[in-house]
Amino acid sequence: MRQVQICEVGPRDGLQNAKQLMPTETKKAWISALAAAGLNEIEVGSFVPPKLIPAMADTGEIVKHALAIPGLKVVALAPNVKGFERAREAGAHKITFPVSASHQHSVSNVRMTPDQMVEEVRKAAQMRGAQGPEIEGAVSTAFGCTMQGNVPEDEVVRIAVKLAEFCDCVALADTVGYANPVQVKRVFRRVKQEIGDKLEGAHFHNTRGLGLANALAAWEEGVRSFDSSMGGLGGCPFAPGASGNVITEDLVFMFESMGVSTGIDFDKLLAARKIMHGGVPDEPLYGHMALAGLPKGFRAAA
Ligand code: COA
Ligand code: ZN
Repeated sequence: MRQVQICEVGPRDGLQNAKQLMPTETKKAWISALAAAGLNEIEVGSFVPPKLIPAMADTGEIVKHALAIPGLKVVALAPNVKGFERAREAGAHKITFPVSASHQHSVSNVRMTPDQMVEEVRKAAQMRGAQGPEIEGAVSTAFGCTMQGNVPEDEVVRIAVKLAEFCDCVALADTVGYANPVQVKRVFRRVKQEIGDKLEGAHFHNTRGLGLANALAAWEEGVRSFDSSMGGLGGCPFAPGASGNVITEDLVFMFESMGVSTGIDFDKLLAARKIMHGGVPDEPLYGHMALAGLPKGFRAAA
């Protein structure tokens, strides 16, 4: 029984910011290894213009590969209706849209204001049809922005409320690693008061070392769905100074050592990490657990 749901976002958030291109066949092998380790939800890529982010040019093929893995929930990011149509055609189970609460990041990232982006997601939701994929509205830069600085919490709540009107679920994302645990608790609590169980996911970056602390703070607020990235790869190419996500290996260890089951096997996770490293050997790899190994006598949560 999984008590917490971890979505591996390395193939999307990680590779979009890597200096090297991971070969398509390595991406497939990595995703298969992640799934074999127990990651049953993987954000495998994004449907953005290939010229803009060449690392995501093969996402259609990657989605096809991932769909053949039994029991895997295949997630893809779309930045607009065109990306949504491509993702839906490819067969992604869940499509996530980045909706920045920072005006400046929104314009830099998707060339739309936050309100224009909300309307773009609304259009996608209206097009979806009964059998359509799940739609997530991810409020990015929800805890601060490297361009704008402060992001008003009222704005985060306002956008989350709008997205909850037509999205299946809403996530809050610390795109640039500005959040602290007290702020995480306060913002999650405020948004939860407005949209209840539609608030699902937490997406943290470890840029200033607070990724795990923030994940724990969100868990204490009742969040049970977390994004993380193997080896701590990651970052938004359109947010200067953004770096990697909270590290999957360390997040798994934190929860398992707390007795909270993730459904993920640590040794198989390290095998997947090797494949990943082979595909982008020049990228710096992070993570304490991969260095230190499991403590003597450690037992995973039942
Ligand atoms: N997939 C593929 N091609 C797309 C596309 C998509 N999702 N969206 C637009 N295009 C194409 C258009 O067809 C057009 O092609 P053409 O020049 O051959 O006619 C071209 O790209 C420009 O289209 P336009 O609608 O004017 O887009 P834009 O240049 O204003 O860019 C976004 C807007 C949203 C497409 C772009 O800013 C984007 O992809 N941002 C996401 C960035 C990202 O991934 N950030 C990290 C994750 S949060
Ligand atoms: Zn991110």
